[in-house]
Order: sequence, then C-alpha cells, then structure tokens
Amino acid sequence: MSSRDHWGNKLGFILAAVGSAVGLGNIWKFPYVVGKNGGSAFILIYLACIILVGIPILMAEIYIGKKSQLNPVGALRFFQKGKIPFSLIGYAGVLCGIIILSYYSVITGWICHYLMLSFRGFSGTETEISEIFSHLNATPWLNIAWHTFVMVTVMLILVKGVRQGIEKASKILMPLLGLLLLVLVCYSMTLEGMKDAWHFLTYPDFSKVTGGSFLEALGTSFFTLSLGMGAMITYGSYLKGDVNITKSAVQIASIDTLIAFLAGIVIFPIVFTNNLEPSAGPGLIFKTLPVLFSKMPGGHFVALLFFSLVLFAAITSAISLLEVAVSFVTDEYKCSRIKAIIFMGTLIWLLGIFSAVSSWNVAGTPFLDLFDKIASCYMLPLGGLCTALVFGWAIKTESKYKEIGSSAVTKTLLFAAKYVSPLLLLVVFLKEIGLF
Ligand code: PHE
Repeated sequence: MSSRDHWGNKLGFILAAVGSAVGLGNIWKFPYVVGKNGGSAFILIYLACIILVGIPILMAEIYIGKKSQLNPVGALRFFQKGKIPFSLIGYAGVLCGIIILSYYSVITGWICHYLMLSFRGFSGTETEISEIFSHLNATPWLNIAWHTFVMVTVMLILVKGVRQGIEKASKILMPLLGLLLLVLVCYSMTLEGMKDAWHFLTYPDFSKVTGGSFLEALGTSFFTLSLGMGAMITYGSYLKGDVNITKSAVQIASIDTLIAFLAGIVIFPIVFTNNLEPSAGPGLIFKTLPVLFSKMPGGHFVALLFFSLVLFAAITSAISLLEVAVSFVTDEYKCSRIKAIIFMGTLIWLLGIFSAVSSWNVAGTPFLDLFDKIASCYMLPLGGLCTALVFGWAIKTESKYKEIGSSAVTKTLLFAAKYVSPLLLLVVFLKEIGLF
C-alpha cells in the first residue's frame, strides 16, 4: 500500500475531482433537463438537491477513500461491521462505472466527430445539418472508430499514473475549459436572446414543475457530481495529509454547479435569439446548436470553441470512470497498473460496441439508452443511498470528527448525510422502481 500514488497537492486533487464532476452531465444533460422542466424553478430544486444530498455524500465518499486509502471495494470492506458485506456496494460501483464509461465514450466520440466537422464549419439547410447526427448514428463503423479513439486516449492518460497522468491532464484541461467557457459566456452576453435567457434561468415558473422534476433533479445532481459509484472514493484514496474534506466537498460542488449554470448561459441565449424552444431535448447540442452555428456570424469559430470545451469536460470525466475500475483491479488482484488498464479498457471498449451500434436494442430500446437508464436512474441513487448509510450509521462520529473536524458546517453536513440524504434517496429510489 505504501507504493500508492498520490496527488501532488491539494489543488491537483480539486482540479481532478472537478474534472470528474464537470462533464457531459453539465454541458449536455443539464441545459436540456432545465429546458424541459421550465427553467429556474427546476434550478432551485436542483440546488436544494446539491446542498441536501450532493455535498453530504460527496463528503462521505472523500472521507471513505481518504481514510481507507483503497479502491471502492476495499474501502467499503475496510469499514465492514457485522455480517453485511459492505464490499458489495463497492462491486456495484465498479460495475456501474464500467457501464457508464461504455456509453459515455460513445457520446464523447460524437463530440470528437462534431469537433472535426467544426473545423470545416457547418453549412447547408437545417434538415441537412440535423441529418449529420442521424447519419453518424446510423454508421456503426464511424461510431466504433470514434469510441476506440476516445478509449485509447483515456487509457494512454491513465498509463502515466495518478500524479503524472490524471493530475497533469486535469491541470491542463480544466483551466482551458474555464477559459473557453468564459469566452463563450461573453459571446452569448452580446446576443439579443440574452434577456430572455436570463429571465428563463432566474425567474421561477413553478407551473412547469412536476413530481418527475424532483426525481430528475436528484438524478442529474448525482450524475454531474460523479456520486454513487465510487469515483470520489477512488480520488479521495489518493489524498494524504491534512486536507479539509468539508471545504473540498463544498468547493467541488460549487464549481460544478457554477459551470452547469454557465453552460446554460452559453446555450440558452443562442436558442432564444433564434426563436427556438429551450426544451429541445438530448439533441440540443448535436442537432439544434450546429444549425444555429451555421447561421450566426462567427459561428464557425464559436462551434470550434464549444465542441473543444465539451470534449475537455468529457475526457476528464471519462478518466475518472476508468480509474475506478483500474484501481479496483490493481488493489484487489495486485496486478500492475498497465495490465489493469489494458484489461479494463478492452472490456469497456467491447461493451461500448453495443451502444455504438445504434440499431442493436432490447425490445426497441437502444443499448445506449438502456445502459444510461440502468446506471443513472437505478445504480447511482442506490449506490449513494448505501454509501450514505455506511457513512452515517456504521462509522463512529468521533472518528469522523477527527478526520473532518467538527465545525458547525461539518456537523450540519454530517446530520444531512445521516438522516436527510438517505431519506430523500430512499423516496426517489422507491418512486423510480414504482413502489409508490
Ligand atoms: N460527472 C460526470 C458528468 O457530469 C459523469 C460521471 C458520472 C463521471 C459518474 C464519473 C462518475 O458528465
């Protein structure tokens, strides 16, 4: 265990964790989920979910990782009490990471394709541009080629290790992402639709909020914070020394939320300026935006910036998804990092082919949608619930105080992790499986 690689410094950890959190969930999922659920009323519910459930569980995962210095399976086994095998939660997390990365890599491949197209610029009629997406989807070899490219890139970054690979990549890509986002925000501010977008994002319209909005807000907050499958346990396990876990959790969640909000500020003015519906759905960035990029002045350049931004965000998240599986194999089977990367990378690549071939489906549901549903609607909330229960109920309060401190904020978050988060998650989970 002494040979375990660690983050070079605290900033490295924060950037890597933010890199994991900020991804397709913020830039692709958040804006269309907000659009669908009526704008700012939904954002308020989302913020409540981040504060009441997201931050406490983020804190719990970092604590579990840092204290045990192990992968999710070993870490949960480390806190084992009585006969219930806690390690099962870790196994489920590793499996969930494998499933998510298999389709996440395919979607990241689409981003690569659009980035390449942005170099030429989007042109043609509206139908022609939106058909790019249908064509890509209907061409398995192209999808598989991009999926392969993404998986190989992620594997090559991981080969370098935690400090030289993950931390270095995050230290380069995250500031670039911040810069690109700021440039795009400034651009959107100059658009006519900014006023409507600002109104949409800040004046709550509760009439569009339904029971489903609460589920969607909780699910999205979990997905965007990378919670419930051990990514933050794994990143926490590379921490050592004196680190303020509460502060780190609050910082990571705040930056993640800010970036999701800024992504909305970039996307909605473009949508409103062109009199489109903000609820365009998952196709928003692949079908709607390219059409707009083709029409607006300087759209070519904006498209390049936009797809680079999404690509950087997606790659740093994919890195964390693969790292969970890799740390599991290296810790549990004492095998070398490189072997673990080749084994897990190949396995996930193979699984991803099911999502890359869009005509393959189960009873009419494509594998990509099926995997997303299984992982983000069921496995993440359930994983989060179990993690909160272990952290809240199986670990002595004094040990937590010793590691995390006992300030008022920490105590409030510990209370939330013990009572509020599990309760809310249980309600959401039971609702999701249709029990009430
Ligand atoms: N948080 C990432 C995003 O927002 C997705 C992710 C989920 C990454 C779970 C790691 C673990 O896109």
